[in-house]
Formats: sequence, C-alpha cells, structure tokens
Amino acid sequence: MAKKKKKSTSPYLIIAVVLSTAALGLAVAIAVLAMAETALPPAAESSAPVVSEESDFSGESSEEASIPSTESSREENSSQGEISLPEESSEEPRPEPQPGLGGEIPQFGSTRDYEYEIGLRYSVDLTPYEKYIDPEDASEYLLLVSPKAPLGRDFEPDDLIYIVDMRAGRPSYYSYLREYAEKALEAFLDEAAMYGHGDIKVSNGYRSYSVQSTLFNNYLADERARHPDWTEEQIYNLVATYSNPPGTSEHQSGLCVDMHNQIDTNNTFDNTPAAKWLEANCYRFGFVLRYPPDKQDVTGIKYESWHFRYVGRTAATEMHELGMCLEEYLAYKGLN
Ligand code: DAL
Ligand code: ZN
Repeated sequence: MAKKKKKSTSPYLIIAVVLSTAALGLAVAIAVLAMAETALPPAAESSAPVVSEESDFSGESSEEASIPSTESSREENSSQGEISLPEESSEEPRPEPQPGLGGEIPQFGSTRDYEYEIGLRYSVDLTPYEKYIDPEDASEYLLLVSPKAPLGRDFEPDDLIYIVDMRAGRPSYYSYLREYAEKALEAFLDEAAMYGHGDIKVSNGYRSYSVQSTLFNNYLADERARHPDWTEEQIYNLVATYSNPPGTSEHQSGLCVDMHNQIDTNNTFDNTPAAKWLEANCYRFGFVLRYPPDKQDVTGIKYESWHFRYVGRTAATEMHELGMCLEEYLAYKGLN
C-alpha cells in the first residue's frame, strides 16, 4: 500500500498569506477613515448656528420673535438677524375693558390697545372708520379758529363731503363736513344709536364766511329788537357770547357740527341723556365738546351742549384726561 505522502507547507505561501492579510487590513482602515471624514462638516460651517423654523432659542413657539407687535421689538429683531427674547413683563395683567352694548369688539391692534388704555370697549365695528378717527397726522385737525385766530374770508376746505346723519330738511349749505371728521362722526353716531340715541342728527356742519355773516347779522338784529336801549357795542358783545363773527367761526373750518335731538338748536338739549352720552363718549371718536360750561372765560363762548369739534382721537383723549379745552390744550402743547 502506497504510503500517503505528507504535504509540507511552502514558506512562500505563508509569506503571501501574511502580506495579503496586512494589505486587506490597511484597505479597511483607509475606507473607515474616508467615511468618517465625509460625515464631518467643513470647519467654517461647523461654527455657525443652525436655525430652523421651529427653533426660537427657548424651545417655545416664536410668534413674537417673527411678528413684532411693538416698535421696540421690531427694532430689536431687525438688527443683523439677531433675535433677543422679550423680557418678562413685571406688570400686572391688564384689566379687561368694560363691554359696550351689543356687537363683538374688534380685534385689530391699535383699537384693541386703545380700548385697554381707556378701559372701554367700542360696540360698533370700527374697522372702516379707524383711520379717520385716529389720523396718522392729526396736526391739520388741531386748527384753532376763534376771534383771536380768524380764518380768511376765502378759506374753504377742499375735502368737504355730505354729512350722512343730517337732519331732514336742512339746507345744503349746512350739510357738509371735512372727510375725516364726517367719517369719524358716522362711527360716533352709530355707537350713539346702539346706546339708544339714534335720534341725534346734525343741524349744522360747514358754514361758509358768507353764511356765517348772514347768521351773525341776524342775531345782531334779533338782540337789537330785544334790547332797544342797548348800545351797538353791548349788542355786539352779547351776540359774540354765542355766535362768532364771520371769519372767526370754526364752522368755516369744516371740522365741527351742531347735533342734538331737539326741535331747535338751543339749551333744551343740556342735561338730556343724549347730551350727556355725547359729552362722555365724544373723545373716543376724535371729538371734543368745544364750548363746555366751565370754559367760557377761555373760549369766550357760552356752554353749547350740541357743538362738537373734531380734533382726532389722540388729542381728544388727552384733552379729556387733562380737562382742557382746545385753547388750553394747544398752549399746553406749545402749539400756539
Ligand atoms: N356758535 C358758535 C360759537 C359759532 O358761531 O361758531
Ligand atoms: Zn356750532
């Protein structure tokens, strides 16, 4: 029987196996290193923060950061893309404004803020009226007209529009008002109607120089008839306490109205619920009671519960809070 020959391992084979094993190991190591390198970001990118839409630095929804609600937060947010967290307010929560009659309160920024500021809600939807009630530039609506601050004979506003809430049967030469004042008045009288004063109507709006001249002369004639023994000066001084001479009436500015629910424009309107409501609420719509009973020494005119002057909501609210008439307010503001 043939003896099975024992196979011997060649030294060349051993060397070949060792070398190929080492080469394979080296190749694996290089591949692993290459993969690791592609997973790392470039050095420049790795130092920049990664901000996603969800990220607001606090883990909460960042509506305030992306939709600034105040000037100051708008400025903060616009500085080179840096967004700082709003500081926590230490103020007490604002009390809810008192509800008005009927209607939902509008939810638009400045009206809502104003309601909080004064603690009263509007009942009418102010959306179509707000820009008129609270004009961006109110300076032209602070025009003072009086015997000490007359208008020219030819002064006539160029934006007169027909008064919606005009008393039936009034002549057209009493029936116009400047646009902003008229629109604000519509909202004012809509609100008045919601509080049961829908019968308040306008008897006089804009009056030209010549219409005021006729009115004033008629009053002079009436008082002469009533006081035949008086001098012309006495007659004039009496009339001047309730009617302004032509060129000095603010009716010529197109910024004021006479309105009431009486047969005529006279003091029967004083102390009525409608008169009290108008006086208490006029500032919210940009109007002031122009001739209050306690300011005759300043205005020169006796109490007129029916005469309301448009000045815009900011000034009207300040005058209301300060208890000032227009002359006092303009002096206080250094505007005259
Ligand atoms: N009745 C007011 C004062 C005017 O005539 O202007
Ligand atoms: Zn008047």
